[in-house]
This record gives sequence, C-alpha cells and structure tokens, in this order.
Amino acid sequence: MTETKVTAQTIRAMKVRGEKIAALTAYDFPMARLLDEAGIPLILVGDSLGMVVLGYPDTTQVTLAEMEHHVRAAARAKPRALLVADLPYRSYESVESAVANARRLAAAGAEAVKAEGGRAISGQVRAIVESGIPFMGHLGMLPQHVLEEGGYRVKGKNHPEQEALLADAEALAAAGAFALVLELVTPPVARELTQRISIPTIGIGAGPDCDGQILVTPDLLGMLPWYSLKHVKPKLNAAEQMRAVVKDWKKGVESQKPLKG
Ligand code: KIV
Repeated sequence: MTETKVTAQTIRAMKVRGEKIAALTAYDFPMARLLDEAGIPLILVGDSLGMVVLGYPDTTQVTLAEMEHHVRAAARAKPRALLVADLPYRSYESVESAVANARRLAAAGAEAVKAEGGRAISGQVRAIVESGIPFMGHLGMLPQHVLEEGGYRVKGKNHPEQEALLADAEALAAAGAFALVLELVTPPVARELTQRISIPTIGIGAGPDCDGQILVTPDLLGMLPWYSLKHVKPKLNAAEQMRAVVKDWKKGVESQKPLKG
C-alpha cells in the first residue's frame, strides 16, 4: 500500500491486484486517526454507532444528524484511508432522499456512502453514483431490517437466498457500487459471489474467501464485554484492562493523605 490518498478506485484496484482489504469501523477522531496510522485503507463510520457508542438496542434508531456528527469527528483525522459513512435507516427510501442524504454525509466529510440492500435500492445507488459520491453495498444479513426479520440470521443457506444474493450483488455492481460488504453470508456463497462479481467483496462473518474483511473495531478490541459474537475473537481485552487501570487509579487517589488544615 502506498502513502497516497485511498479512493474508491484504489479499493477496486486492490481486487484486481489480488491484495486483501482490511477494513474497520471508527466513530470519532482518535479512533479514525489510530486506524489510519495503522495503515487501514478503508474506515467505515458505520451505523453500528447506534449500539457500540450510543447505547441503542439496534441500528434502527440512528439518525442522519447523529451520523453527520460522528462523520465530522472521524473526518477531522484527515485519514489517508477512504472514509465511508452509512446512510442510516429510512434515509434512502426514495432516489431524492438517497441523493440528498448522501450529499449531507459527504458535506460532513464522508468520501463514500454505504446502504443496505440490492435490487430494491439499485435506482438510489445509480443516482448517488451519478451525483459523484462513491457507493459501497451491503448484502446478506441487513442489520437495519432486524425488526422485520425478528433477529440476525445467516443468509445463503438455501437456493432461493443464494440466487437472490447473486442477483442483488450483480445489480449493485451494475449500478456502480465500488465494493460490497457481505455480512453473515455462508462462506461457500460468499466465495462464489467473490469469484463472480468484478467489485471487491468485504466480508464480516462470511468466511475467509472474500476480497477483504471488515470488523466493528470495539468488537476486535474487546471493548464491549456484555455480549460475544461467533465471528469475532477479540484480540485485546480492552474492557478488562480499562477496569483494572481505573480501579488502580481510584485506589491511588483514595489512599492519598487528606490535607491537614
Ligand atoms: O455499521 C457497521 O458497522 C457495518 C459493518 C458491520 C459492516 O455496517
């Protein structure tokens, strides 16, 4: 990876060159800066923001104003990485709202936007791309649909789902998406999609055979000890370390002798 600014074209070219794409999420200035300094080429201000930062039960309560606020913070890191932002729930139901809201995220500092869905949003994708904003797709388990679907379920387990995933991936590529997140897609289906479409696939819980991988950074760092996920083994126990440091500091403060008056 060179030191030059990463663009959507750079990410596409990584697939052509056979270079794996390691992407992570960030929601603020220090996290974006640290990931960038570690050489991550694609940083996503995901609407996972809702759960991992704002304390919502899922992503459906995240607003565009909240996304703009956090995109601005991450963009202040001026990353070399491509900074992608999620269009939140119901912010891209029509072509007009999709373009207007993608422009708002771009004005906040996003260099590309992501939204969930395939053929159902291909008109919106085409219009966003035509407006000059690069677009990244998201297929498989769609967190913004958790309430309709009644939970988070692996996708691609049967033939109709496999056919739908392929048709959706092809529709997104044809509409101009530069890359595609595959979330909780069965590994053989993720592998087949990766071989069949020209744009990079970036997997999360979709097996090793995607063009890249993405994780929610607090999950990777073990910052959220209140739940565990099958597809992520934290590489750090940040929550435990933080508790220990805070307890130790508190003890130090409490053991200081009071000033005698
Ligand atoms: O919101 C998010 O963090 C995401 C990733 C899980 C890909 O969409």
